[in-house]
Amino acid sequence: MVFKTPLCDLLNIEYPLIQGAMAWIAGGRLASAVSQAGGLGVIGAAGAEASWLKGEIDLVRQLTDKPFGVNLMLAAANIEHLVEIIINEKVPVVTTGGGNPGRYMEALKNAGIKVIPVVASVALAKRLSRLGADAVIAEGTESGGHVGAMTTMCLVPMVLMP
Ligand SMILES: Cc1cc2nc3c(=O)[nH]c(=O)nc-3n(C[C@H](O)[C@H](O)[C@H](O)COP(=O)(O)O)c2cc1C
Repeated sequence: MVFKTPLCDLLNIEYPLIQGAMAWIAGGRLASAVSQAGGLGVIGAAGAEASWLKGEIDLVRQLTDKPFGVNLMLAAANIEHLVEIIINEKVPVVTTGGGNPGRYMEALKNAGIKVIPVVASVALAKRLSRLGADAVIAEGTESGGHVGAMTTMCLVPMVLMP
Protein backbone atom coordinates (compact mmCIF):
# COMPACT_ATOMS: atom_id res chain seq x y z
CA MET A 1 0.00 0.00 0.00
CA VAL A 2 1.31 3.44 -0.86
CA PHE A 3 0.84 5.82 2.07
CA LYS A 4 1.08 9.31 0.63
CA THR A 5 0.58 12.40 2.78
CA PRO A 6 1.05 16.13 2.11
CA LEU A 7 4.59 15.73 3.53
CA CYS A 8 5.45 13.55 0.50
CA ASP A 9 4.37 16.34 -1.85
CA LEU A 10 6.12 19.03 0.20
CA LEU A 11 9.46 17.21 0.24
CA ASN A 12 9.09 15.29 -3.02
CA ILE A 13 9.58 11.95 -1.26
CA GLU A 14 7.85 8.60 -1.63
CA TYR A 15 7.07 7.80 2.02
CA PRO A 16 6.20 10.28 4.82
CA LEU A 17 9.32 9.48 6.84
CA ILE A 18 12.00 11.88 8.01
CA GLN A 19 15.12 10.24 9.42
CA GLY A 20 15.98 11.61 12.86
CA ALA A 21 19.19 13.60 12.73
CA MET A 22 21.97 12.15 14.89
CA ALA A 23 25.09 14.16 15.56
CA TRP A 24 28.27 12.17 14.89
CA ILE A 25 26.22 9.21 13.61
CA ALA A 26 24.08 10.33 10.67
CA GLY A 27 26.46 11.26 7.89
CA GLY A 28 26.02 11.19 4.15
CA ARG A 29 26.07 7.40 3.91
CA LEU A 30 23.02 6.93 6.19
CA ALA A 31 21.20 9.97 4.80
CA SER A 32 21.65 8.82 1.21
CA ALA A 33 20.42 5.29 2.05
CA VAL A 34 17.24 6.67 3.65
CA SER A 35 16.61 9.06 0.76
CA GLN A 36 17.31 6.40 -1.83
CA ALA A 37 14.75 4.15 -0.08
CA GLY A 38 12.07 6.85 -0.40
CA GLY A 39 12.21 8.73 2.92
CA LEU A 40 14.08 11.93 3.74
CA GLY A 41 17.63 11.22 4.87
CA VAL A 42 19.16 13.89 7.12
CA ILE A 43 22.83 14.61 7.78
CA GLY A 44 23.43 15.59 11.41
CA ALA A 45 25.72 18.62 11.23
CA ALA A 46 25.87 19.44 14.94
CA GLY A 47 29.33 20.33 16.12
CA ALA A 48 31.00 19.24 12.88
CA GLU A 49 33.50 21.25 10.87
CA ALA A 50 32.00 23.00 7.86
CA SER A 51 34.43 21.11 5.60
CA TRP A 52 33.06 17.79 6.93
CA LEU A 53 29.51 18.92 6.15
CA LYS A 54 30.48 19.89 2.60
CA GLY A 55 32.08 16.44 2.13
CA GLU A 56 28.97 14.64 3.42
CA ILE A 57 26.68 16.69 1.15
CA ASP A 58 28.91 15.75 -1.80
CA LEU A 59 28.75 12.10 -0.70
CA VAL A 60 24.92 12.10 -0.60
CA ARG A 61 24.85 13.58 -4.09
CA GLN A 62 27.20 10.87 -5.36
CA LEU A 63 25.00 8.13 -3.87
CA THR A 64 21.49 9.37 -4.68
CA ASP A 65 19.69 11.97 -6.74
CA LYS A 66 16.77 12.04 -4.25
CA PRO A 67 16.04 14.97 -1.89
CA PHE A 68 17.84 15.01 1.47
CA GLY A 69 18.24 17.29 4.45
CA VAL A 70 20.80 18.70 6.86
CA ASN A 71 20.06 19.16 10.56
CA LEU A 72 21.50 22.14 12.41
CA MET A 73 21.91 22.14 16.16
CA LEU A 74 21.48 25.81 16.88
CA ALA A 75 24.04 25.94 19.69
CA ALA A 76 26.87 24.89 17.36
CA ALA A 77 29.76 27.35 17.67
CA ASN A 78 30.22 27.50 13.87
CA ILE A 79 26.51 27.71 13.03
CA GLU A 80 26.94 30.73 10.70
CA HIS A 81 29.48 28.83 8.64
CA LEU A 82 27.28 25.73 8.48
CA VAL A 83 24.31 27.83 7.30
CA GLU A 84 26.53 29.39 4.62
CA ILE A 85 27.52 25.93 3.30
CA ILE A 86 23.87 24.80 3.27
CA ILE A 87 22.82 27.88 1.30
CA ASN A 88 25.74 27.68 -1.15
CA GLU A 89 25.07 23.98 -1.71
CA LYS A 90 21.32 24.54 -2.15
CA VAL A 91 20.51 21.71 0.25
CA PRO A 92 16.81 20.89 -0.32
CA VAL A 93 15.68 20.67 3.33
CA VAL A 94 16.94 21.90 6.71
CA THR A 95 15.73 20.62 10.05
CA THR A 96 16.84 22.35 13.23
CA GLY A 97 17.21 21.23 16.83
CA GLY A 98 17.92 22.86 20.15
CA GLY A 99 16.00 26.12 20.05
CA ASN A 100 14.65 28.85 17.84
CA PRO A 101 16.05 29.10 14.29
CA GLY A 102 14.21 32.39 13.65
CA ARG A 103 17.33 34.39 12.79
CA TYR A 104 18.22 32.00 9.93
CA MET A 105 14.73 31.57 8.49
CA GLU A 106 14.82 34.44 6.02
CA ALA A 107 18.19 33.49 4.50
CA LEU A 108 17.26 29.82 4.22
CA LYS A 109 13.83 30.54 2.74
CA ASN A 110 15.27 33.08 0.28
CA ALA A 111 17.62 30.34 -0.93
CA GLY A 112 14.59 28.15 -1.70
CA ILE A 113 15.31 25.73 1.15
CA LYS A 114 12.47 23.96 2.96
CA VAL A 115 12.82 24.58 6.71
CA ILE A 116 11.39 22.16 9.28
CA PRO A 117 12.32 23.06 12.86
CA VAL A 118 11.96 20.71 15.82
CA VAL A 119 9.66 22.46 18.30
CA ALA A 120 8.94 21.62 21.92
CA SER A 121 6.17 24.16 22.53
CA VAL A 122 3.05 25.54 20.89
CA ALA A 123 4.43 29.08 21.13
CA LEU A 124 7.55 28.21 19.13
CA ALA A 125 5.52 26.27 16.56
CA LYS A 126 3.28 29.31 16.00
CA ARG A 127 6.19 31.77 15.86
CA LEU A 128 8.12 29.70 13.32
CA SER A 129 5.02 29.08 11.26
CA ARG A 130 4.59 32.86 11.01
CA LEU A 131 8.25 33.14 9.92
CA GLY A 132 7.67 30.71 7.07
CA ALA A 133 8.51 27.24 8.42
CA ASP A 134 7.30 24.69 5.88
CA ALA A 135 6.38 22.25 8.65
CA VAL A 136 7.40 21.58 12.25
CA ILE A 137 8.51 18.44 14.05
CA ALA A 138 6.73 18.48 17.42
CA GLU A 139 8.84 16.54 19.89
CA GLY A 140 8.15 16.05 23.56
CA THR A 141 10.45 15.46 26.45
CA GLU A 142 10.82 11.73 25.80
CA SER A 143 12.43 12.39 22.44
CA GLY A 144 16.05 12.75 23.34
CA GLY A 145 17.08 15.48 25.72
CA HIS A 146 17.19 18.76 23.81
CA VAL A 147 13.55 19.70 24.36
CA GLY A 148 11.07 20.92 26.98
CA ALA A 149 8.99 19.25 29.68
CA MET A 150 5.79 18.43 27.79
CA THR A 151 5.22 14.94 26.38
CA THR A 152 4.73 14.32 22.66
CA MET A 153 1.21 12.92 23.26
CA CYS A 154 0.17 16.28 24.76
CA LEU A 155 2.19 18.51 22.46
CA VAL A 156 1.14 17.19 19.05
CA PRO A 157 -2.63 17.82 19.40
CA MET A 158 -1.94 21.28 20.83
CA VAL A 159 0.34 22.19 17.91
CA LEU A 160 -2.28 20.91 15.45
CA MET A 161 -5.10 22.93 17.04
CA PRO A 162 -6.12 25.88 14.84
C1 LIG B 1 22.36 9.52 19.23
C2 LIG B 1 21.39 10.59 18.92
C3 LIG B 1 21.84 11.79 18.40
C4 LIG B 1 20.92 12.81 18.09
N1 LIG B 1 21.37 13.98 17.55
C5 LIG B 1 20.48 14.93 17.17
C6 LIG B 1 20.92 16.12 16.52
O1 LIG B 1 22.11 16.31 16.25
N2 LIG B 1 19.99 17.04 16.16
C7 LIG B 1 18.65 16.85 16.43
O2 LIG B 1 17.85 17.75 16.09
N3 LIG B 1 18.20 15.74 17.04
C8 LIG B 1 19.08 14.78 17.41
N4 LIG B 1 18.64 13.62 17.99
C9 LIG B 1 17.17 13.42 18.13
C10 LIG B 1 16.63 12.55 16.98
O3 LIG B 1 16.82 13.15 15.72
C11 LIG B 1 15.13 12.29 17.13
O4 LIG B 1 14.41 13.48 16.96
C12 LIG B 1 14.80 11.68 18.48
O5 LIG B 1 15.67 10.60 18.74
C13 LIG B 1 13.32 11.20 18.53
O6 LIG B 1 13.08 10.24 17.56
P1 LIG B 1 12.94 8.68 17.95
O7 LIG B 1 11.79 8.62 18.92
O8 LIG B 1 12.66 8.00 16.64
O9 LIG B 1 14.25 8.28 18.57
C14 LIG B 1 19.53 12.60 18.31
C15 LIG B 1 19.10 11.37 18.82
C16 LIG B 1 20.00 10.39 19.12
C17 LIG B 1 19.47 9.08 19.67
